[in-house]
Amino acid sequence: MKLVANSSSALRGIAPIPGDKSCSHRALILGALANGTTRITGLLGSDDVLATARAVAALGATVKHVGPGEWQVTGSRWTTPAEPIDCGNSGTAARLLLGACAGVEGLTVTLTGDQSLSKRPMQRVTAPLERMGAKFDGGDHLPITVHGQALGAIHHLNIPASAQVKSALLLAGVTSGAAVSVKEPLASRDHSEIMLGEFGNPLTGCDIAIASDPSSAAFPLVAAAIVPGSEVTVRGLLVNPLRTGLYEVLEQMGGAIALTNEQLQSGEIVADLTLRHAPLQPCHVTAANVPAMIDEIPALAVACAYADGESVIEGLAELRVKESDRLGAIVAGLVACGVAAIADGDALRIFGRGTVRGGGKVVTHGDHRIAMAFLTLGLASEQPVEVDQAEMIATSFPNFVEVMQGLGAHIEEVA
Ligand code: S3P
Repeated sequence: MKLVANSSSALRGIAPIPGDKSCSHRALILGALANGTTRITGLLGSDDVLATARAVAALGATVKHVGPGEWQVTGSRWTTPAEPIDCGNSGTAARLLLGACAGVEGLTVTLTGDQSLSKRPMQRVTAPLERMGAKFDGGDHLPITVHGQALGAIHHLNIPASAQVKSALLLAGVTSGAAVSVKEPLASRDHSEIMLGEFGNPLTGCDIAIASDPSSAAFPLVAAAIVPGSEVTVRGLLVNPLRTGLYEVLEQMGGAIALTNEQLQSGEIVADLTLRHAPLQPCHVTAANVPAMIDEIPALAVACAYADGESVIEGLAELRVKESDRLGAIVAGLVACGVAAIADGDALRIFGRGTVRGGGKVVTHGDHRIAMAFLTLGLASEQPVEVDQAEMIATSFPNFVEVMQGLGAHIEEVA
């Protein structure tokens, strides 16, 4: 399916953003390992998260979908499933499950993934797990078979900062009882640590309310930042400081941001965020600030395209191994839309002129965030922007088009 975004007048209103993807995966996995029943509200019903729900059910948990965003998971001892587990497009599902399964003695399970996931590196997880004594058949890529074992302690230095690697090790510690310590020169998102605190030790079923995903909210909020006259609010947004890098940079660039109604929800900070359009200045983001916005770089690149001057975002090597080579896809998409941009080593340089020609046919390489970013870019460009393979948006933000249309965005399907 191809979608096209056309120049839109001021975007206004409240954008209903689905639950955070990282927290949704973790709630299902921890619920499936806990004693008793966990009630989850606000779970993201996207393809990636549904892959994790099916996986933990295949491993022995009882998983019930009781209403919109409402799920119940009853944990049990994990046992060998009849079939391989398909993680679909989800790196988080694959890497967290590799860790959790590695520590369950007697469990044997093969994890598979789609074409994109089967190209993504897994050794970053399996190598430290092997140091704990874990046993795998397979190399750096899925399919990989895990033979659950008794594991020993590990002290891991988490470079490059990866919450998936950290979480895989913590989950291996949970299932095996081995001591795990992780040192991070640059902090990665800490949702696993926070949620482990909610479940307690030993893990006990609890109520988890999941906040709106800042990585999905990035698209309507960047749209508000680039379309003159816009004002968009997201309620109940996850504003964990390890996830809000984009919003800090948008504010430095001149975007008018207001945060209200901050509160704690299942151990995480949530708030209402309103962004009002204002002319954007270019930004300079250094590598140390990237982990807090790693999934938001495509959206930030769109804001930079509309800023007047050269923006630089450093330390983007990890973008080469996301759902696509995101650094390459961003540069190619920007150039196709008339914006000068280059990948300079692992830095992205965008030479904004305040306005964007558009008119590009953007190749998404099956990457949901590339699709959503360039549809956002097209809402303020002189000519429409078309993206291929918009189906993949369902991996993280299934109602993206409806949410954007609800604010007044002109996005539609094309033949
Ligand atoms: C995630 C961690 C990040 C992020 C991914 C989700 C997580 O990946 O890009 O979308 O839920 O732990 P890395 O661990 O590879 O940095």
